[in-house]
Amino acid sequence: MLEMLLAQAFWLIGPAYAANAFPPLARGKMPVDFGKKINGKRILGDGKTIEGTLAGIIFGLFYGAVQILLQPYMPLAIDGKPLELITVTPFIVFLLVIGAILGDFIGSFIKRRARMERGKSAPGMDQLGFLIAGLVLVSLITAVSLEVWIILIILTPLVHWIANLIGYYLMRVKQTPW
Ligand code: CTP
Ligand code: MG
Repeated sequence: MLEMLLAQAFWLIGPAYAANAFPPLARGKMPVDFGKKINGKRILGDGKTIEGTLAGIIFGLFYGAVQILLQPYMPLAIDGKPLELITVTPFIVFLLVIGAILGDFIGSFIKRRARMERGKSAPGMDQLGFLIAGLVLVSLITAVSLEVWIILIILTPLVHWIANLIGYYLMRVKQTPW
């Protein structure tokens, strides 16, 4: 049962993870907010760049396209139990990718309102903002089970943390290990 749930959850969320993981690799320079401020505070800050955002969108869409191509070959059942993977469509991929990017922007926007510097850790929001926004948008067009929501909310911070340690210590593409 748990392995079914894990397969369903990670099959669904792939494009959002891809869109969230790729931006640091772009080593972008042009801030999305063009350095603009509201009430003396940056709108999003230097951690959200045009290059990074485009890289996230392109990689997320690419990941989803690969999923759509592989879909016909995915197993329908494991040990006779139906796997019930969601049927990925271009629109689902689009919503996951846009949700992931927007959720990340919303997190940065809130951090800047709270006078938190770029890169300062905001536990919860840093790891879950992209996930929740992605899931909310897909939920508009297809049912996402409560179990899938729960497992992703529990496991995403762990995946995020491990990925960031790799990005910081091994690849040096992250400014901070979180
Ligand atoms: N990044 C980017 N464009 C994005 C998202 C991320 O260029 N849309 C890059 C930036 O180099 C950023 C790094 O990926 O520093 C890590 O992303 P994240 O942790 O989301 O940004 P932070 O630097 O922590 O900024 P914030 O405090 O606004 O979350
Ligand atoms: Mg960060």
